Amino acid sequence: MTNRIIIGDSQKMAELPDKSAHLVVSSPPYFNAPFDTPGLFDSYDAFLKTMRNVIAEVKRVLDDGRIVAYVVDDIIVDGVKFPIVADVTRIFIEQGFKYRERIPWLKPEGYIRISRRSGSVVKHPFPMYCYFDNCSESILIFQNGSFNYRKIPQELRDLSRIDLEEFQREKWYLGFWKITNVLPSNNEMEKGVAAFPEEIPYRLIKLYSYKGETVLDPFAGSGTTLKVAIALGRKCVGYELDLELLETIKAKVAQAGPDGTRPDTEITVRDDARKLRTQLLENVERRMTKHDRAGKA
Ligand SMILES: C[S@@+](CC[C@H](N)C(=O)[O-])C[C@H]1O[C@@H](n2cnc3c(N)ncnc32)[C@H](O)[C@@H]1O
Repeated sequence: MTNRIIIGDSQKMAELPDKSAHLVVSSPPYFNAPFDTPGLFDSYDAFLKTMRNVIAEVKRVLDDGRIVAYVVDDIIVDGVKFPIVADVTRIFIEQGFKYRERIPWLKPEGYIRISRRSGSVVKHPFPMYCYFDNCSESILIFQNGSFNYRKIPQELRDLSRIDLEEFQREKWYLGFWKITNVLPSNNEMEKGVAAFPEEIPYRLIKLYSYKGETVLDPFAGSGTTLKVAIALGRKCVGYELDLELLETIKAKVAQAGPDGTRPDTEITVRDDARKLRTQLLENVERRMTKHDRAGKA
């Protein structure tokens, strides 16, 4: 299989045969996260339904014994905290995956993008005013049954050998990973996308796939997983609903080819592609106007 970018809804991945992917590295939309996908879903149940449908497709296209790594976090929308980590974990287990790990991804203090909720207790230094700043997410690891280690030829094992010096130095073995997040001001490419830093797919792809295998991201966003997969000598398939991200994904993937060569990539724009960012921006503007009107009334 060649590299593929498919613009369309990953609740249906009809382009992919059964068991054709060897690893999934992804970060789904965080329900109606105020900064990223405000108003994308009509309700939390609709969000969970989408998660269920995508995870069922992931189960179908993932080879036996292989790994899914999902970067998720609970999210606060209009003052209500939604238990996304717990609910997504439950869905994976219900669909027959084995729950392997929850690796907390710790972001540096001071780089947090969301509001500093702890300010509340500074303003009111009394009991019952404490809310916490959020500077972590969860990297959830699931496995699709048992892996047959003997199926992998020794030559391929050697080609995909993990650099133990890097593994020890960067402390990949710890049950939490300290990695700096993508800074909003840093990169035009990730504007309006909750992109994760390249270091996350870099570690996961090295730890859970062999050279030449296919890495799938059903929520490609700006294309971080795809870029890193190609740079590490793997093939990639990415689904993204938003047509407005296609140029970004193409540009990111183009950076990944060895020696400046453009990696071979097939692009499909399906009928169900949406101009999502424009639509979501309109949602925010509508909400703000409503909010302003309520404030003036
Ligand atoms: C958290 S972002 C992924 C960011 C990505 N990891 C990166 O580094 O750029 C989630 C993405 O999923 C996309 N998305 C939401 N629903 C989708 C669906 N049903 N099918 C495919 N993509 C979807 C959103 O447009 C968004 O770009």
